[in-house]
Amino acid sequence: MENKTIKIGIAGVGTVGCGVINLLKRNNEEIFKRTGFNIKVVCISAKNKDKKRDCNVDQYNFYTDPLKMIENEDINILVELIGGESIARNLVKKSLEKNIHVVTANKALIALHGNEISDLAQKNNCDVAFEASVAGAVPIIKVIKESLNANKIEWIAGIINGTTNFILTSMLKTKKDFKDVLLEAQELGYAESDPSFDVGGIDAAHKLTILSSISFGINLNFDAIYVEGIENIELDDLNYAKELGYVIKHLAIARSNESGVELRVHPCLIPNSRLIANVDGVKNAVVVSADASGPTLYYGAGAGSYATASSVVSDIINVSKNIVYNSNGNLPLLNYQPNKLKKVNILKIEQIKSRYYLRIRVTNKPGVLADITKILGGKSISIESILQKEDLVNDANVPIVLVTHEVLEKNIIEALSSIENLDVVKGKIVKIRIEELN
Ligand code: HSE
Repeated sequence: MENKTIKIGIAGVGTVGCGVINLLKRNNEEIFKRTGFNIKVVCISAKNKDKKRDCNVDQYNFYTDPLKMIENEDINILVELIGGESIARNLVKKSLEKNIHVVTANKALIALHGNEISDLAQKNNCDVAFEASVAGAVPIIKVIKESLNANKIEWIAGIINGTTNFILTSMLKTKKDFKDVLLEAQELGYAESDPSFDVGGIDAAHKLTILSSISFGINLNFDAIYVEGIENIELDDLNYAKELGYVIKHLAIARSNESGVELRVHPCLIPNSRLIANVDGVKNAVVVSADASGPTLYYGAGAGSYATASSVVSDIINVSKNIVYNSNGNLPLLNYQPNKLKKVNILKIEQIKSRYYLRIRVTNKPGVLADITKILGGKSISIESILQKEDLVNDANVPIVLVTHEVLEKNIIEALSSIENLDVVKGKIVKIRIEELN
């Protein structure tokens, strides 16, 4: 086996691609000691060979067209790090048709085209591994597919977008505004090429699509996910939440119950006593609650060159082992046998129950609170606490912060629409769900 060499081609040599090239070089000996075989990058493809990079690409056969690369080269594994949908999808399909195994970090590809890719992989007896597509260095896919495979999974809740977590953490710490902090995240290489995917919640929804499918044995349901980003979170909300004993985090939540499955991505207040409430900066964390294990928490770097490369290279090693031991294509891509994936009722956001943080800007005069609480009471919404800052009470308009008991979201939506129609209420009401995560 010591003479065995697994040949790989890398498509896309940006932040993660360079991380993979550098990590394979740096830990080559360690990996060889563990596996007993060699992993060799033979070719790469990128738009521009001469672009300034953090890795040296001179020694590899270079292609500007990744399709030509898989056509010309004799490789065992294609590592797809281009991202996005169109080129990557075609490339992965063509690779599988040529019996080339695939390792990818591409969450959009798996979330939107995973079924098609799974069918092709099965047909061609190929492996497709995608650990790096969710939560960077955190091995959450392997945990769900392997370590927790004796369990029924009940719910998962995760901070799975580093950029939004970095922004929310930095806004509170530095009191800087959203735009400045986003620029910083982009400079550090955390954000997607289109950062609206990060701040608007699409990136997290792609990842939740994958996690929920492999956790519950359900179809990939990207279109059914309820998605809110962090664009409307203001520093005031971060401060009020802190005062109430909470932290605002952008969470991706999947919960299976008797009436269906909840799939939602949005900002949440979580009690600051929870471990996950202290996950700051670009770090990611996922809580998985399962029937035998109970809740378990996985934490680590959600983005970055070496961090993401750690998961990509781990997949390369595992697929290589399958090649060496002749056992590729044995495990279903989405963790369940393809013919056992179920269609389920995905609950609409109106059908979920939650507690709510509400910030309402009102005219500062007697009777306003009574008008608001009357409407809330009419929808069976019970108030748990009220906050109004004393130093603001002399202003003509003041913010009132309310925390409600648990209620059906439909009732909150209806109540807020009536409250927003009151003359004394100024502008849109800020509504953030509260998650206890227990
Ligand atoms: N843009 C992603 C994030 C990077 O911020 O988490 C990895 O998916």
